[in-house]
Amino acid sequence: MQTGPRPQRPVIGIESSCDETACAILARDGVILAELVLSQQADHAPFGGVVPEIAARAHLAHLPGLVQQCMERAGLDFGDLGGVAASCGPGLIGGLIVGAGVAKGLALGAGVPFVAVNHLEAHALTARLPGLVAGGAPFPYLLLLLSGGHCQCVAVEGVGCYRRLGGTIDDAVGEAFDKVGKLLGLPWPGGPALEQLAAEGNPARHPFPQPLRGRAGCDFSFSGLKTAVAQRIASLPSPLPKQEAADIAAGFQRAVAEVLADRAGHAMAMMPEAQLLVVAGGVAANGTVRAALSGAAAARGVALAAPPVRLCTDNAVMVAWAGIERLRLGLADALDVAPRPRWPLAELSAG
Ligand code: KG4
Ligand code: ZN
Repeated sequence: MQTGPRPQRPVIGIESSCDETACAILARDGVILAELVLSQQADHAPFGGVVPEIAARAHLAHLPGLVQQCMERAGLDFGDLGGVAASCGPGLIGGLIVGAGVAKGLALGAGVPFVAVNHLEAHALTARLPGLVAGGAPFPYLLLLLSGGHCQCVAVEGVGCYRRLGGTIDDAVGEAFDKVGKLLGLPWPGGPALEQLAAEGNPARHPFPQPLRGRAGCDFSFSGLKTAVAQRIASLPSPLPKQEAADIAAGFQRAVAEVLADRAGHAMAMMPEAQLLVVAGGVAANGTVRAALSGAAAARGVALAAPPVRLCTDNAVMVAWAGIERLRLGLADALDVAPRPRWPLAELSAG
């Protein structure tokens, strides 16, 4: 059932594609009325990675309460909503089914449009949230998506209009942080702990290879770098002294940051019309990575927009915002649309 749009009323967004259960409510102008994120990290940490079945069950256990709490924080009743948006892919199918199911139920109950949001599009459109870039990022811009599951460079030309310029040919960059974190004995996910450890290290002591650096295009590769780190660790005394571990972490982080800056430089050359480079995904939280990308952008006279960390990692504000952008264009979805574990950005359309 689709009833008439209520163009002024707030939109609720739901995120459940991986290991964050999140809900947010945004006014149509992008003002955040309420936002909540429940991380499942503690549930998955003992297994050293996300366990899909545990994730799906945790979403199911927590999402209804989170929605209720978000509504209370925003001071709204379900009848006050104007639309419901949920991440419907790509991601882990169990979680997607939970989020899409809850969202469709809400839309049906409130009699408002439902939007099946592509999670990658939600990351891509975050920069257009008012307040992050003066006036909201205008199209076109360049997006560097750096997360645990995704690592790609995309020309963002409009809502639903994306051109993939390059991506990883093996591991995602966040995955590389997590794997190297494991090699160094750090808790999962490795990225934040590795950054902390690297702060005490000397990056010059272990110069690691920078795969694909200087190569045409903007593809990425991280598995060779991870192997180089593994080999270096194997050649050193075990257990690794703390300072040695910090130096390795710093060397690895520097290699990643420099290779990302190089790849971003190539991407900017492939899209000279872009005045803005947007960085998103969990790895965008890394200070060394941000600094390297900022330098690469400045060298080409391009502005860098890195949303605050809570909007770089998985969240529902971005999902609600993508829903608002789509509803503005009249792009609601039918309630029988199925979640998709694989859903490349290039398969989206604006109509
Ligand atoms: O975007 P995200 O929250 O979730 C998805 O993967 O979709 O990204 C999580 C990834 C993990 O691999 C994590 O280790 C990495 O982002 N990460 C970081 C940092 N914070 C999170 N990597 C490097 N430095 C950080 N500070
Ligand atoms: Zn994500």
